[in-house]
Amino acid sequence: MMKGSLLYEGKAKRVYHVEGQPEQLILSYKNDATAFNGKKKDQFEGKGRLNNLITSKIFDYLKQRNIPSHFIEELNDTEQLVAKTTIIPLEVVVRNIAAGSITRRLGIQEKERFNPPLIELFYKKDELDDPIINDQHAYHLTDVNKAELDSIKDKALEVNALLANLFKQTGLDLVDFKLEFGRLADGTIVLADEISPDTCRLWDDKTGEKMDKDVFRENLGDLISVYKIILQRLEEHTCAK
Ligand code: C5P
Repeated sequence: MMKGSLLYEGKAKRVYHVEGQPEQLILSYKNDATAFNGKKKDQFEGKGRLNNLITSKIFDYLKQRNIPSHFIEELNDTEQLVAKTTIIPLEVVVRNIAAGSITRRLGIQEKERFNPPLIELFYKKDELDDPIINDQHAYHLTDVNKAELDSIKDKALEVNALLANLFKQTGLDLVDFKLEFGRLADGTIVLADEISPDTCRLWDDKTGEKMDKDVFRENLGDLISVYKIILQRLEEHTCAK
């Protein structure tokens, strides 16, 4: 596996070409943490490794349960091999419990439960601070059609059910999370990007403690020790199986 040139550098990852494999990419997880669309920034030694290992475990778990994603394999502590996709500029957020932007946007009390879970779409556009959009906006702003968006939402709910169950077994409530989808060369839409405590809200189901990027957003303590606990709990769970 020969790492090729840098294709793109995002806030949390670098994306590299793979020599001789035009349909694959290497994602290299950085130690940078950003919040509020990059307005708050810091670096945490070991964060890239933790998010790479956590995301790899989660995509493996989903693959075993018939949820295809771009993930191919973990290459080393901070890098993973993925199928090349063209990312659809949508952030698909699933919410089980109210927290974060929805509490501010709609005046809903934190901790209120959504049953059934809510899906929100955001337009992935830094210059606009990723505004919330509806389905019609998504058809206009992206290349997805109605059948594809419906299937993206079904997939998001399926992922929610699987991950809520996985995290529950590790003593965590899955509050909400964000997914991204991309198109493979043949046009098929698959789950892409990462699923980690950077992109999920996870609360300890006994203490209610926040165990995700809110620790950084809200200055609640040491991010790395919290992410280590998430990885450890996932490892214990997957080893026990
Ligand atoms: O900020 P908000 O409450 O809308 O976030 C909902 C969920 O989506 C949270 O789990 C957050 O970590 C995730 N998210 C993300 N990337 C963004 C925006 C939100 O991973 N750009």
